[in-house]
Formats: sequence, structure tokens, C-alpha cells
Amino acid sequence: METLESKWAAVGLVGAILLVVAVPALAGEAKGNPYTSAKVCAGCHEDIYQMWSRSLHATALTDPVFDVVYMQVLKATDGKARESCLRCHAPTTRVSRDYSLRQEVTREGVTCDFCHTISVVNMNNRAEPYTLRPGTVKFGPLGETTSPKHLTTFSPVHETSELCGGCHELVAKNGTVIMGTYSEWKESPYAAKGVQCQDCHMPTVKDATTVKAGVKVSTKRVNKHDLQGGHSVDQLQRAARVEILEVSKASDAVRVRVRVTNVGSGHKMPTGIPSRKVLLTGRLKDARGAVLREATIRYQKVLADAQHKPLETDADIFLKPSTVLLDNRLGPQESRIEELVFPVTREMIQDQVIGGRTYQRNLSVEVALTYSYTPLILQPADMVQDMAKDSRPLQ
Ligand code: HEC
Ligand code: HEC
Ligand code: HEC
Ligand code: HEC
Ligand code: HEC
Repeated sequence: METLESKWAAVGLVGAILLVVAVPALAGEAKGNPYTSAKVCAGCHEDIYQMWSRSLHATALTDPVFDVVYMQVLKATDGKARESCLRCHAPTTRVSRDYSLRQEVTREGVTCDFCHTISVVNMNNRAEPYTLRPGTVKFGPLGETTSPKHLTTFSPVHETSELCGGCHELVAKNGTVIMGTYSEWKESPYAAKGVQCQDCHMPTVKDATTVKAGVKVSTKRVNKHDLQGGHSVDQLQRAARVEILEVSKASDAVRVRVRVTNVGSGHKMPTGIPSRKVLLTGRLKDARGAVLREATIRYQKVLADAQHKPLETDADIFLKPSTVLLDNRLGPQESRIEELVFPVTREMIQDQVIGGRTYQRNLSVEVALTYSYTPLILQPADMVQDMAKDSRPLQ
């Protein structure tokens, strides 16, 4: 960390000197705001802009899910929480201090120019992990490249998890980890192998160019910029496996042993804000598929207030975190054996004998993992997503 920091601070400086000599400024900056709107970048970086526009980064401020909670938190704190929420959801305010959100670039949330003018990240400095150098030098992973409108600097930190960690880690003043995605990754086998957030969330894409034709004919790679996470079906279905190991039938219960594995998530599953849950649901079904019994295990992190009362809403999670009451989420590559128990009566499961003929019940069990997040403004059904499934007939 130390060495990275000093090395790249020096590179940033070289860039800053060059800038005085050569490059015409990008048009479109608001007065007094050193950040440039994504619309300006879109003039050349068309494909990347399209991808970013679909990301939750682009709507980090304007997304109604954020807005509802933000308004509640502002009300509860007499506006005092404003700065602290906006430092991640409208991060250009860290420099521009446009807290009235008047300027377009502020409303663009986690915008191009915020990420691409980060020069150094120091995760040990919790108050401000980022060294920000808004201006004409754009920091990126390409190296050996030129642009007609801005300077470029090769920035190795853009290929590391630290770039993301400055926002994807939120620790309360008393040390309670509200959101620990970065530290969960840091302790994982992926970090040990050098697999970074970008490797899973920003893979390279074909059929895209760094800049549109006419600006430059480029052979450089393009990384995905739509940052898929828990809102993406693809990403979720890569994340988990569920497998029935054994089904046993007794006169009072059917028991199912299940193996659940976090195969693809680089951090705990689920990660992020604690209101997200993963549910393991088992169902005992009859021959026609009707559900006779259901059992559920929840994987989640539960924070509590100072009186050890569980915090249930997003607003309370931000306002009153005091201790971690429970955290049974599945760690990266962790496999766990669970038992689901369906209480039954003998009559429910025994084959029926009618008029000398035996009718089999043909019961079956099915297990499924689903991702569940119930923001205030949505119906629960809107954010329940299948992750993995298995089923087996009852012998
Ligand atoms: C007039 C066209 C133009 C505009 C406008 C423009 N760029 Fe670029 N940019 C380029 C070109 C050309 C390259 C080099 C691409 C290549 O070599 O494939 C580039 C490269 C980059 C790189 C890669 C640097 C590296 O070394 O990895 C970043 C990051 C970048 N631009 C960010 C931005 C951002 C952020 C904006 C808006 C604030 C922006 N650009 C606006 C033309 C432009
Ligand atoms: C959340 C931070 C973030 C935002 C927002 C962001 N980028 Fe990037 N960008 C990155 C990272 C990280 C990489 C390098 C990924 C890698 O190498 O694994 C990158 C790579 C690039 C590159 C080099 C080509 C490539 O894809 O590797 C260009 C050019 C670029 N970004 C332009 C933009 C533009 C234009 C926008 C807005 C429309 C934007 N970026 C938004 C983080 C960001
Ligand atoms: C400036 C702060 C900031 C940086 C830097 C940043 N993020 Fe984010 N990210 C956010 C915020 C805020 C959200 C939530 C937006 C919302 O929904 O309101 C988010 C959302 C996401 C999501 C979507 C989560 C979901 O529920 O689907 C993913 C995935 C993600 N970020 C990954 C990354 C990765 C990977 C990087 C580094 C390349 C990164 N982020 C860098 C602030 C940041
Ligand atoms: C090995 C691949 C991998 C790595 C490495 C990885 N992720 Fe993820 N990430 C996933 C998958 C798969 C999901 C969807 C399943 C889930 O929610 O855990 C996900 C979900 C997310 C979400 C959505 C929150 C949620 O649980 O729904 C965020 C935010 C996120 N990742 C950020 C990051 C950040 C930041 C890093 C680096 C510190 C990172 N990821 C590293 C694969 C990865
Ligand atoms: C350290 C950076 C950081 C700070 C500070 C922060 N957030 Fe976030 N917030 C994030 C990230 C990153 C995500 C996405 C994680 C995930 O997908 O679970 C997020 C997600 C959210 C979500 C869920 C959005 C969605 O679309 O699912 C809400 C609501 C939210 N934040 C509200 C707030 C409020 C209100 C505050 C101020 C009290 C705040 N945040 C402060 C980084 C931050």
C-alpha cells in the first residue's frame, strides 16, 4: 500500500506538469466544478457511456430506492447526514461541494470523471481513502495511449479492488461494519489468488471500442462498465449451488440434508447493505406438485441498535448501528451442510391401500436458493430472484 501510494503520487505529478503545456480543456464543466459531465465523455467513449448509463453507478443518486431512504435519513438527522451519504452516492461533491445537487455532473452519481481522476487509494485512511486529482489527466488501465482532449496516465490502482473498496466498505464510528464488501473480499481466497473485483464485475467485452470511429482507430480492450451485482439474474445464477445429499423419511418427519455453496461470489453472499438476504427454501410436495410443507433458512447479517433491537429498515441500519447481532452469510467458496425438517404425520407419507391396491404417494422434495431484497418502494415479489435449485422424489 505504502509503495503504491508514493509511486503513483509521483506519476500524478508528472501528468499535472504535462497538462500545463499541452492539452485543450474539455468543454462542459460547470463553473467552479473541476469535474466534467459523462455527456462530454460520451462524445468519444460512446460504447462505454452506454454501458455505464445502465449501471446502478449512474443512478446512485437518482434511483428512487436510494432517494426514499436518503429523505428519511435527512429528516431524522435534520439534514446532517447529507454530506456523508453524498460522499459515495454523488461523490463529486467531495470536491465540488455542490450539496444543492444543481449541477448535472453531481446528479450523475458515480460518474466517469470521479473514477478516472482517482490517483491513489489508501484503504488505511478511513476518513478519505481516495486522493482525487480532477482535471485534464484521466487515470486508466491502458497505458501507452493518447487522446486529443485529455492527458492520460497509466494507473495500476484501476485494476485493483482498492479502487472500489473506498466506497464498498462502510464502517460506523463505533467500528461496526455496516457494509464490508471490500474486507470480505480481502479475507477471501480470491484476494489471495489476486482475483480483483474488476475480474468478475468488469470483464472485457467484445463488440465495443474504447472510442467511436472517427476519433481514433483503437485496438485497446474495453471493460464492461455496467457493473452487475445483486440486481442481475446472470450474476446471481453464477453465484451459488444447492444440492440435495440425502432425504430420510421417519414417521414424524421428512429430513433433507442439503449442501449449499457460494461458488462464484467474491465476498460474502449476500454482501452490501444488510437488508439483502439469501433464502434457502425446501418444499415437500405431493404427486400433483401441491406444497404440503415448507421450511426456510435465511442467510443474512443483522445489525442491532444499542438496546440490541434488530434493525430492519435501511434508514435505521444507517442511523443506529451498534452491534452485529448475527452474520450467517456464506463466505466466498464456503460450503455448508444444512438440514431441513418437514414435520409430517404417518398418514401423509404412507402409501395408501384402497380395495387391496396400493397407491403410492409420489411425494417429492425441492430445494431452492433465492435472493431477496425488499426496498420500501417495491413489492416484495419485485426483488426475489432464483439463484439455484435441486429436487428429488421421495423413496
Ligand atoms: C475528443 C474525444 C474524447 C473525449 C471527449 C474524452 N476522451 Fe477519453 N480518450 C479518448 C481517446 C482517443 C483515448 C485513447 C483510447 C485508446 O487508446 O484506445 C482516451 C482514453 C481515455 C482513458 C484511458 C486512459 C488510460 O491510460 O487507460 C480514460 C480513463 C478516459 N479516456 C476517460 C475519459 C473521461 C472520464 C472523459 C470525460 C470526462 C473522456 N475520456 C473524454 C478520447 C476522448
Ligand atoms: C466505478 C468507477 C468507474 C466509472 C464510474 C467509470 N469507469 Fe471507466 N474504468 C474503470 C475501471 C476500474 C477500469 C479498468 C478496468 C480493468 O482494467 O479491469 C476502467 C476502464 C476505462 C477505460 C479504458 C478501456 C477499458 O474499458 O478498459 C476507459 C476509456 C474508461 N474506463 C472510460 C470511462 C467512461 C467514459 C466512463 C463513463 C461513461 C467510465 N469509464 C466510468 C472504472 C470506472
Ligand atoms: C464513488 C463510490 C463508488 C466507487 C468508486 C465504486 N462504487 Fe460501486 N456502487 C456505489 C454505490 C453508491 C452503489 C449503489 C448505487 C445505488 O443503487 O444506489 C454502487 C453499486 C455497485 C454495484 C451494483 C450492486 C447491486 O446491488 O446490483 C456493483 C456490482 C458495484 N457497485 C461494483 C463496483 C466495483 C467493482 C467498483 C470498482 C471497479 C465500484 N463499484 C466502485 C459506489 C461506488
Ligand atoms: C469471484 C467473483 C467476484 C469477485 C472477485 C467480486 N464479486 Fe461482487 N459479486 C459477484 C457475484 C457472483 C455477485 C452476485 C451474488 C451476490 O450477491 O453475492 C456479486 C454481487 C456484488 C454486489 C451486489 C450486492 C449483493 O450482494 O447483491 C456488489 C455491490 C459487489 N458484488 C461488489 C463487489 C466488490 C466491491 C468487489 C471487490 C472488493 C467484488 N464485488 C468482488 C462476484 C464477485
Ligand atoms: C462508503 C460509501 C457509502 C456511504 C457513506 C453511503 N452509501 Fe449507500 N450504498 C453504498 C454502496 C456501495 C451501495 C451498494 C451496495 C449494495 O448493492 O448492497 C449502497 C446502497 C445503498 C442503498 C440501496 C440502493 C439500491 O438500489 O439497492 C441505499 C438505500 C443507500 N445506499 C442509502 C444510503 C444513505 C441514506 C446513506 C447516508 C446515510 C448512504 N447510503 C451512505 C455506499 C455508501
